[in-house]
Amino acid sequence: MYLCAFVLLALMAASAYSSIILPRLVPDLEGRAVGGEDTTIDKYPYQVSVRMLGSHICGGSIYKSRVVVTAAHCIYSFLGASSFSIQYGVTKVAGSTNAEVLIVDRNVCNRQYAGVNEITDDMLCAAVENGGKDACQGDSGDPLVANGELVGIVSWDVGCARTDYSGVYRNVANLLMKFVWEPVVKERFAG
Ligand code: ARG
Repeated sequence: MYLCAFVLLALMAASAYSSIILPRLVPDLEGRAVGGEDTTIDKYPYQVSVRMLGSHICGGSIYKSRVVVTAAHCIYSFLGASSFSIQYGVTKVAGSTNAEVLIVDRNVCNRQYAGVNEITDDMLCAAVENGGKDACQGDSGDPLVANGELVGIVSWDVGCARTDYSGVYRNVANLLMKFVWEPVVKERFAG
């Protein structure tokens, strides 16, 4: 089981999603999106590789100038910030793939993960019915995208591309709610 904790900041609203694209554009890792199709950086220009001491550790997305969104567990480290770097815009990457997955109902996902971990409102599950398409180890921090908006961040799982366990993502809409909108509303309507 890979319980890879949770995810950092993210600042784009999620909208209605049915079909979700999971880009995967970084090389040199054992794990990469399973069952994906070849793609290129120009289709997913926001995709980056988050690197520690020069090696890929996670994916991430460019949110705006100087801000990259990734999973929090990707950067928990005793090493300082200068040990981390971002590789972006690489055009010649072998094995860049994106996989199309569907959001799995949270109750269904909770049943899958019963006895393993609770699937909270902070999380989203995505998969395809017969398995075979998913993110995998090394994909943490990668974006789950619908209609060009960031709706999830690859986080954790039990295995990859299985029929009995969906991939689990940080729920970005809820992240926004908690850390961006709620504080704004509280501040505005406080006392
Ligand atoms: N925790 C993993 C990592 O750090 C990501 C797992 C995503 N797995 C999945 N089956 N969707 O790379």
